[in-house]
Formats: sequence, C-alpha cells, structure tokens
Amino acid sequence: MSLTTDIDYGTPASTSEKLVTLTIDGMRVSVPEGTSIMRAAMEVGNKIPKLCATDMLDAFGSCRLCLVEIEGRNGTPASCTTPVAEGIVVKTQTERLKQIRKGVMELYISDHPLDCLTCSANGDCELQEMAGVVGLREVRYGYDGENHTKMGKDESNPYFTYEKSKCIVCNRCVRACEEVQGTFALTISGRGFDSRVSPGMDENFLTSECVSCGACVQSCPTATLNEKAMFDIGTPEHSVVTTCAYCGVGCAFKAEMRGDELVRMVPYKDGKANRGHSCVKGRFAYGYASHRDRILKPMIRSSIHEPWKEVSYEEAIQYAASEFKRIQEKYGKRAVGGITSSRCTNEETYLVQKLIRGGFGNNNVDTCARVCHSPTGYGLSQTYGTSAGTQDFDSVEKADVVLIIGANPTDGHPVFGSRLKKRLRGGAKLIVIDPRRTDIVRSPHVEAAYHLALKPGTNVAMVTALAHVIVTEGLVNEAFVRERCDWDDFQEWAAFVADARHSPESVEKYTQVPAEQVRKAARLYATGGNGAIYYGLGVTEHSQGSTTVMAIANLAMATGNIGREGVGVNPLRGQNNVQGSCDMGSFPHELPGYRHISDDATRAAFEAMWGVHLDDEPGLRIPNMFDAAVEGTYKGMYVQGEDILQSDPDTKHVSAGLAALECLVVQDLFLNETANYAHVFLPGCTFLEKDGTFTNAERRIQRVRKVMAPKNGYADWEVTLMLANAMGFKMDYAHPSEIMDEIAALTPAFTGVSYQKLEELGSVQWPCNDKAPTGTPVMHIDGFVRGKGKFMLTEYVPTDERTGPRFPLLLTTGRILSQYNVGAQTRRTANVAWHPEDVLEIHPHDAENRGIRDGDVVKLESRSGATSLKAVISERVAPGVVYTTFHHPVTQANVVTTDFSDWATNCPEYKVTAVQVSPSNGPTPWQEEYEDLSKKSRRIAVEAAE
Ligand code: SF4
Ligand code: SF4
Ligand code: SF4
Ligand code: FES
Repeated sequence: MSLTTDIDYGTPASTSEKLVTLTIDGMRVSVPEGTSIMRAAMEVGNKIPKLCATDMLDAFGSCRLCLVEIEGRNGTPASCTTPVAEGIVVKTQTERLKQIRKGVMELYISDHPLDCLTCSANGDCELQEMAGVVGLREVRYGYDGENHTKMGKDESNPYFTYEKSKCIVCNRCVRACEEVQGTFALTISGRGFDSRVSPGMDENFLTSECVSCGACVQSCPTATLNEKAMFDIGTPEHSVVTTCAYCGVGCAFKAEMRGDELVRMVPYKDGKANRGHSCVKGRFAYGYASHRDRILKPMIRSSIHEPWKEVSYEEAIQYAASEFKRIQEKYGKRAVGGITSSRCTNEETYLVQKLIRGGFGNNNVDTCARVCHSPTGYGLSQTYGTSAGTQDFDSVEKADVVLIIGANPTDGHPVFGSRLKKRLRGGAKLIVIDPRRTDIVRSPHVEAAYHLALKPGTNVAMVTALAHVIVTEGLVNEAFVRERCDWDDFQEWAAFVADARHSPESVEKYTQVPAEQVRKAARLYATGGNGAIYYGLGVTEHSQGSTTVMAIANLAMATGNIGREGVGVNPLRGQNNVQGSCDMGSFPHELPGYRHISDDATRAAFEAMWGVHLDDEPGLRIPNMFDAAVEGTYKGMYVQGEDILQSDPDTKHVSAGLAALECLVVQDLFLNETANYAHVFLPGCTFLEKDGTFTNAERRIQRVRKVMAPKNGYADWEVTLMLANAMGFKMDYAHPSEIMDEIAALTPAFTGVSYQKLEELGSVQWPCNDKAPTGTPVMHIDGFVRGKGKFMLTEYVPTDERTGPRFPLLLTTGRILSQYNVGAQTRRTANVAWHPEDVLEIHPHDAENRGIRDGDVVKLESRSGATSLKAVISERVAPGVVYTTFHHPVTQANVVTTDFSDWATNCPEYKVTAVQVSPSNGPTPWQEEYEDLSKKSRRIAVEAAE
C-alpha cells in the first residue's frame, strides 16, 4: 500500500465546452477555454513551480514563482492567473525564469526557520519541495536580517497548530476559509513585512469564528498550519480511501496511516459528495475509535442487576441464541425482534434484517430511520414513486432559488452547507422556513431573501399557503403538470389549495408569519428560475411529517421544479447510512428495495435465495416494540449500533419497555445507555475496522474500507453471521462483497452494483441497473418512477401537543456542528472543546419574565418529564419558543419529548413539545440517578476490560 497523493493542477478546472489549442514547451495541447496556463501545462506533464496556487482555490497570483514567457508578449506573466489563448506559444523553463524563481525562493527561505530536519512537515512541505525544484542551494542574504523566525505558536485548536514563524503569507488559508468553507474566519493583518495570518480580530483559533473544518490546514503549503498528530505520530506512509461515518453527506477521505496507526483523515478530492472538503467531525473527530471506554470483549449477565461477566464470542453468541430460542418457545415466534442501525454498513443492515426475517421467522425489524426520515420514505413514494431524494449535491450549483425547510445545513450537513453558501455567494436567492434563525439565514456574504420564522408544528399550513399563492396567482407550470403529472389529481389539489382557508392571510394565525412575506417567498420560488428544495428533520419529526413531505413534493411538481439539474426535492439525511438502512429492508413491512412483505412474488424470490419460509405479516415498529414489551408480549431484542434509550422519545416509556425484556442483546462500541438494560453485550467495531458500503443522501453508494484490524476481533457483519448460524439459520459469506452481490441479485435498483464497479467508478447513485449502468445522479428526468406524479391533499391538522398555562412555551430540538446525535462518538473526542454540554436557548423576553439570566441552570419540564440545563439568552429563537440539542445523556432532551408521532409512520414529534422553563438549583432526581447508574455500569465494564 502506498500514500495516495492527489495531483494538484494549480487552478480549478474550467467548465467551458469550447477548446483552445496552444503550445507549451514545444508540445501542443487543447484545453477548455478559461483554463490557466499552469493547468494546461500540467496536462502535458509540465509542473510549473508554484506556492500560492492550488486547484481547490481560485488563482491569486501572489508568490510570483509560476512565471512563464509567452512569445510576442512582454514580461513574465504568472501562469496561474493567465488564461490560455488560441495559438499562443508558452515557455515554462528559460534561463530568465530560472533566475527569477531562484530569487523569489531565496527571499522566502531567508525568512523561514531552517529546522527542516525536525519540522513536522518534513517531506510533506511545498516550500521545501519548491526550493529543490528551482535548484536553490544557497541564500545570499544570510539569515541575520529582520525576520519572523522567532514568532510563537497558537496551539489553542485541539487538532492543529498555527506556527506563525513558518508562514509565507501565501493567502491560501484565508482563501480556503472564504471560498471552500465560507466562514471568513481568517484575515491577513498588518501590512508589508508585518503582514500575518490572523484568526478573527487577532484572537486564537479556538475563540475565533473558526469551525475547525481543516480546509486551511489542508491548503497550507508549509508546516504553519499542521495537524498535531503529525508531531505525535510522524508523517504517514500509506493511505486507504474510505467514507465518513458521521452524517448523510458522505464525505470521502484518505485515511493516512503509519503502520496501523491513523495519522490523519484527508478529504479526498475525487470524492463526489465532498470534492475535497470536510467538517470538523469527519476530519478530526475519530479519536473515539481508540478511546478507553470501548468495550472489546463480549459480556453476558443473567439479570440487569448483576455485574457483567466477560466471556468468549462463542459463549456470548450461544447464550444469546439459546435465550432467543427459549423466549420464542415460551412466548411465540413473534416475541423477539431487532433494530438495525443507520450507522452500520448496507451489508450489516441487510444481514440483521435477514437474520430477523429468516432466523427469527418474523418481521419485527425496524431502524433508527423510524425516528428521523421515515416520513420522507412515505411522502416521496406516494407522490413520486420512490423513497429518496431526487438530486446529487452538484445540482445545487445550478440552482437559482434555494428553499430550505426545517434544516440547518451549516451545523447538520456542513460540507453541503459550505457548497450551498458558495452558490448563494454566487447569486442564488435563499428562502428559509425555520422557527429559529439558523446560521444560513445570515452569515458572511449570505443573507436569506425571506426567513419565514414559523411557529413549530405549522409546516403543513405554511407549505400549503405557498401552494395557495402559486395556484391563485397563476404561477403553476401548467405545461409540466399536464405532461408529467396526473391531471385529475392536480385539479383536485389546485381547488383544495386555492380555498381561502389556505391563504397566507388565513394561516397567519397558526404560523405567526406575516402573509405578505409568505406571498413574496412563494413568488420567488415559483418564478426565480431553478428552484431547489432541501429539507431536514424539522420537516419529518412532526405529527404531520409525512404530510409536509407530500406538500413539498406538490410544490416542486406544480412549479416544474423536478427532473433536471438545479431543482428537485432533497431530504438532508441525518446519519451516514439512513438512506442505505431504509434501502436494505429495515422496515417491518418492506423487504429490501421497498417491496411490501405481503407481495407473494417478492417474498418468493427471497425465500428461494435464503432457503426459508417468510412471514407475510408486517412486524412491529420501534414504538410498538416498547408497547408490546410493557404489555408482556415482546421479550427479546437484538439492537445493533443504536442507543434507543437516548435517541427515542419519551425515555420513561422506553426504559420501561427495555426493563421488561428477558433478553436484550446490544452490539455497540461503548456500553451505551441502552446497554444498562442489556443481558448480552457484543462489541462493535468502527468504520475504520471494516469493509462495506454506505449510501448517502444523494443515493450514492460508496465504499467503506478497512484501514486497521477490528480491535474487538470481528467486524459487525461477522458477529451477526455467528448469531444467525447459532440460531440455526445458515449464513455463509467470506467478504461483504458477497453480501452486496446477494443484495444486487434481489433488488431491482441495485442489480448493477458490485464492489468491482465501485472500484472502477468510485461510487454510484442508485438506481444502478441495466437501464442506468453507471447510476442515476438526477431522478425522474423523463417521467416519475410511479408514472404520473401524484398530487396529494395536505390538510393542516394542528398537533395535539398544545401550549397552555402550565406549559406555555414550545420546545424544538436540533444538532450542533461539533457534536453528533447522542454524542457517543464526538463526546469521546476533543470536540467537547466547542460544546461541552447541551444548553437551552431562550428569548430575552421569556427569560426576563421568568427571572432567568444568561448561564443560569434552569428546569425544563413537559407533561412527559423534566430535566435541567444551562440557559443561553438568544434572539435566534422567537418569543414563545425554546431550543436545545440532544448530544449529552446527562441532559437527555428526550425525557421531555412526548410520544406523539407522525400519523403515517410513527416518526416521533421531536420538534414540538409544550414546556415550562423555570429557575433551578441543580440536576433533577433522575439526572442524579442517571449519573450514579451510568458511572457504576461504565466502571464495571472498564474494570472487566482491564
Ligand atoms: S498559514 Fe500557510 S496557507 Fe496561510 S498564509 Fe501562511 S503559509 Fe500560506
Ligand atoms: S479550520 Fe476551517 S473555519 Fe477554521 S480557519 Fe481554517 S478554513 Fe476557516
Ligand atoms: S459533512 Fe458529514 S460526512 Fe462530511 S465530514 Fe462532516 S460529518 Fe462527515
Ligand atoms: S503560484 Fe502563481 S503566483 Fe503563486
């Protein structure tokens, strides 16, 4: 294995279709118009010396190292900023150029510490490389003049250092922060000799606006900005390309290794989802993989009140299998089930559902997508015929108007957020529908045309009001609708939305958004050119989540914003493999590929391949599993990679269900909160330790590649395989690629997918089959998957969760950039530097009424329960609305959330809870108990491991 080094072409590729032909060093080359001479030279294999240029950034032309001569032109222009022209003759290597370049390098080196041998970037430094390239062997000026070589270091960022003395002021970091990340955290302060890179107003990196995405570190040609791991471990010597295991963007990384130690994760330029960018989580927050809390040996116990006993895999698996068999004999075949994880690979998820359907003999399988994007699956399949987003991420570059509903891309999907901001800086207009003023509403050089700050729980009223304006003001794209959609359904829908009760003026009493703003936003979306909708859990996690998804789908059809680049309906998926876990048949009513379990032909195909009879009755959904457990009819469960106690609503009910189980098998990295109720603990392994695939929000299937051996001995798919065989259900695979071959053989949208194809193409977006052998970047181009697009009626029904005198405020929840969901991984990394605890955002008006000051500990109480946390006074939320995150178990926002859920899918209504907030003296009783239980349980496990 070797280190994969990306070729840097110096400047970005031109997208022009017109070719220009020129001669470089005697060689003719044809390149797209607008290409720089530097990039054209690379095409013929001539690497022009450079320092300030990189193909991730627009050319800047400051270092003067890349000069060339052009016949018939005066001077020596910079090749990075000079575009090609028809017929020009360029020389990149002449005596004059050599002397100029040496002179430039001499100046740089005379003001640079000469500690190359001990420098962390030794061998990985462009300055060092360029000194060699231009043939610099001595510095005539000496090193004694005024210089910067004694300047200090900023080590405030947990992951990288800023060593000012090594800065050559090439500006690459500043431009990376602006152009790629869009944060504008860096400036060059001072002038001339005194100029230096500065985070914010001469702050340190940690306290500045920097979000630690690493783009500046990656772009720095010297050791000035460098990963701390390069000091600790040394330079990497081989790399493996793999996929981030955090969010649904699906960034590709080169895991750069020294031996079996991970030195750094470098965003992969050929990654089609991220195009060489990353966020703080994927780039830096992988330390959990080697955290001491990891449980590496299987454990069993006969009761949850007993201490854990460390055992062999064989004993743990036999114990689990015998318990499941005992329970089924005593309580019936359907008394057991399992939960798959959107954090695990497609292959692992497929195996778990196969084990449950084939080995347990029932369909009691569900996934954590139940609590996030199940309404997306339902809503989009009803209207368009397929349960997935319609576009690739590249599509946003062609959007003219972007409508974001209930999503916070800069925190939740940061790399897509950066791409979106770039398009907005390029001129696209933005409409945001969100109760909270998220960063995308106003950030450097980005400002939403309209922010419709609606009251939580009124999405359907709002989106239907937008449709009302579009229909009643004659903004429907009738040609599109007549050709592509069911005309009768459309007419019924148009009459429905045109009714006065759906007008912005009528719904203002629910949404609290001025009608005129809604009208203007609707006009902009319908008439502003390519209109693209992106939405998140602020749409789905409601009692009318599925209805809102259908209302969004209606809006795109009515305006013709579907079926080409730049438009579409795009769910921003929370977890890395939400799309995949749904595709793989994790729902109790659907086999892989979204085919209903009651369909005889589909079942027959699986029965033939698996050699078992399949139950044709849909199984239990997650909330029904807890209900059945409390009722005493559901007794055993296998949970892979999900901390349901923390992530599911109404914690008291969940814990009552878990406590009633006779056998709970938890497979995870850590002894999570759910494991407090487990009888068997099977160690899980991280994405760094296994092979497989993830499917991101674009339907893009990407390889996860093993970069180190599983610390716990087995990959997760191997453990499931052992459990299936112990249950008497024969499974036999030598490698996850064989599991994918089986998925492809049984699933029409995957028939063209194989590991070999993924090696060849890098990634593919499903459907990938005979009709689309290289995949499908944009769906519904010539027609909807279901045939004609179906308009659905979307009556607004206010949630049963109402505010009143006892609970007068509405709580809504979300994520923050540096932490991830229940925090199991990110809390075990240095990311806690940015978010050590969950806090409650409360409007100044509501805080003052309650005598709450910024930083006070407050009690947050609902009908379901109470917790306590710190208050932050903020105008990001409107009066009457409070907001918190759910990353820390000691706060556990889900103690407060209710068991109301989406009418179609049971997705919990996390985003609307009536609450009261009051001053508090400290933790609530359950928090004190939790601390005790959790500490005790963790101590026993860690002691067992040691
Ligand atoms: S920190 Fe690095 S990238 Fe930034 S100006 Fe200095 S040398 Fe260039
Ligand atoms: S880490 Fe990212 S956000 Fe921070 S300064 Fe560098 S580019 Fe900007
Ligand atoms: S944006 Fe998502 S996929 Fe990309 S690095 Fe960050 S967490 Fe990972
Ligand atoms: S690389 Fe062209 S001027 Fe620096």
